Amino acid sequence: MKIQPANSLNGKIRLPGDKSISHRAAILASMAIGETRIENYATSADCDSTLNCLRNLGVEIRRENATVIIKGVGRNGFTKPDKELNCGNSGTTMRLLAGVLAGQNFDSILTGDESLSKRPMRRIIEPLRRMSAKIAAEDNHAPLLIHGANPLQSLSYNLPVASAQVKSCILLAGLNAVGKSEIRNPQSALKSPTSRNHTELMMRYLGAEIEEHFVEDENGFVQEISVDGNSTLVAKDLNVPSDISSAAFFIVAASCLENSEINLENVGLNPTRTAILDALQWFGADIEIKNRKEICNESVGDISVRGRKNLISKAAANLIDGDIIANLIDEIPILAVFGTQIAGGLEIRGAAELRVKESDRIKSIVANLRRMNATVEEFPDGFRVGKSELRGAAVDSFGDHRIAMAFAIAALFAKGETNIIGADAAGVSFPEFFQTLASVGK
Ligand code: S3P
Repeated sequence: MKIQPANSLNGKIRLPGDKSISHRAAILASMAIGETRIENYATSADCDSTLNCLRNLGVEIRRENATVIIKGVGRNGFTKPDKELNCGNSGTTMRLLAGVLAGQNFDSILTGDESLSKRPMRRIIEPLRRMSAKIAAEDNHAPLLIHGANPLQSLSYNLPVASAQVKSCILLAGLNAVGKSEIRNPQSALKSPTSRNHTELMMRYLGAEIEEHFVEDENGFVQEISVDGNSTLVAKDLNVPSDISSAAFFIVAASCLENSEINLENVGLNPTRTAILDALQWFGADIEIKNRKEICNESVGDISVRGRKNLISKAAANLIDGDIIANLIDEIPILAVFGTQIAGGLEIRGAAELRVKESDRIKSIVANLRRMNATVEEFPDGFRVGKSELRGAAVDSFGDHRIAMAFAIAALFAKGETNIIGADAAGVSFPEFFQTLASVGK
């Protein structure tokens, strides 16, 4: 995919439904009693993987464009699949479905593509084994052979990583456990969830007994979340907001290109996902949020962005580190590109989790930035990029959707043409990305 530099981005941008929320909507609707209509279901290949796996587990699913209609089978009403469940590139599909399958009375196998087969699964295998599921996985990697049990034993668990996928896996397994399962998030200086909380919000919306509270000690706050295994999910129509992680690419592009003005409607503004907006605003981006409302327990609103010639930072240091990292982890590739455009550049630390995403994102970011003439330094847990005159170059997606899209935006800021090798990886979360970009870029 060849991308030319741009002067500005203008217009109204329609974004697909949120990927994280769509996965949960499909899974929880399948576990509910009754029929659910999901509006604005994500167009991403990852969310197709979730639907296909659920179909192979005996769930009746109809799709009419962005509307998905699911006949729930109840929390333990799935049927033994006659083939392996292919999660494609989707870590969320694999880790969340593992929680569901642990509580079914049959064996199943979860597989994934080359990238997913390299990602760490021990983080879900360990708690699920403690709940009495039997899981075979060579070296704690996919394929996962899950020997489910119903009911499972309940669990009290301290999460070793601030991971919404692990938390969600246990909460889903907890729906098929005897009594209450409780999870403690890693400690945080802030009294807020340490990872996205869509699963908790949607489970509660559908009637599950979910309790959340914070325990404070001298070092900060620990959030405890519990789910009662006696909960029944009752089908209720769901509306998926647009994906703020997809929005982030356009927000960064419009912020840095003078004379830009874009409007993004109906975007998910759950506080566990909006750290990207806070960060961009600290570093001088002109972002306005309007029409905030609640839909299906999720906060939603419209975002408008205006370009500025020189972004003036309000932050004490051009550093992002600590508790905020988990809440903008998926936006770090595009933040790296943003860092090349702001005085003083940007340093990201405490983000070693990036090394086990769809690609080793620290490596992918650093390699591509260097190819585009940026000054960049790599750390085990992050990187530092200086304000740089980007030059068009051949860059690689490394098979990673967010790397493909982040460097398409870098290409807009560069001198000369950029060629993105493996650009089709963008379809994993945002198949319409390049078309949308072409329609608003000048
Ligand atoms: C996701 C959680 C995050 C995120 C991923 C989606 C989710 O992963 O990076 O893109 O939908 O729960 P971790 O749970 O591994 O942090």
